[in-house]
Amino acid sequence: MTERIVQTIRTVPELRDAIAARRANGATVGFVPTMGALHSGHCALIERAAREHDVVVVSIFVNPTQFNKAEDLEQYPRDEQGDANAAASAGATICFTPSVEEIYPTDFASSVRVRGPLTETLEGQERGVGHFDGMATVVTILLNVVAPDVVYFGAKDAQQALVVRRFTADLRIPVEVVTADTVRDADGLALSSRNARLSAGGREQALAISAGLQAAAEAISDGSATSPKDVAAVGVERLRAAGITPEYFAITDAETLEPARQLSGKLLIACAATVDGVRLIDNLTVIANREAATANR
Ligand code: PAJ
Repeated sequence: MTERIVQTIRTVPELRDAIAARRANGATVGFVPTMGALHSGHCALIERAAREHDVVVVSIFVNPTQFNKAEDLEQYPRDEQGDANAAASAGATICFTPSVEEIYPTDFASSVRVRGPLTETLEGQERGVGHFDGMATVVTILLNVVAPDVVYFGAKDAQQALVVRRFTADLRIPVEVVTADTVRDADGLALSSRNARLSAGGREQALAISAGLQAAAEAISDGSATSPKDVAAVGVERLRAAGITPEYFAITDAETLEPARQLSGKLLIACAATVDGVRLIDNLTVIANREAATANR
């Protein structure tokens, strides 16, 4: 593999200058916001951005305002050098790794809030809307300083991507939002920095999450379930068989996150569960219609 150099930048003025210099030469800019602990899911976003842009900015910032538990924030894995190497080999040009003070100076007093089902259901219900306020605020700041042409998010956090689409449209932030497919291990487990905290047994058990989503998607496509309630029951049963009680297993409209009333159109099947003391989320989007449904992993 060719050795690549990534430029690490820690302050907003330096980042703006570096991007302006490249823009002056006609470069387009792709942006991948992350909290570090980079794995192949993050790297797929960076690789895609590198295929589509001359300059790829990856931000690595563990955003304190989106954590609802202090211990989660403390436990969050940090490996700046490893992340810089992973970002570089995936094609990043600039790593933006600001301090907390750089993003939130002492007089910082603003917040971005998206209202309604997009933030109040699913993760918003479990983690509190403050989680999405913190995420939306930091992503707004990052979009303002990077000013990319395109920003990339993972379908793994489908609700987050929908919230970003909403506030970038509402606030007229001039950026295209791309949502890229979830990257999974060969056995179906969605990649997450939290997977490292699973024991071997816990990891085995956690496979029931993707299997439950898949079973629910199949119950739609083969017509064996005829209502959203039946679909959810198929998934929950698969999880229970593995000894997992989900926090939620929801069938919603894939755009609005309102509970699905019938099995038609684009639906999101979303699940959160704690396995082995580790909270995991995953989802699938399916197109349901009277004839057939296709699962999009
Ligand atoms: P983080 O959890 O580091 O995720 C960064 C990006 O990687 C998100 O868009 C997430 O959806 C994507 N991602 C994570 N796992 C993935 C997988 N298995 N397949 C595809 N994409 C995956 O999400 C955040 O950080 C933060 O909320 C952030 C947006 C950076 C704001 O602080």
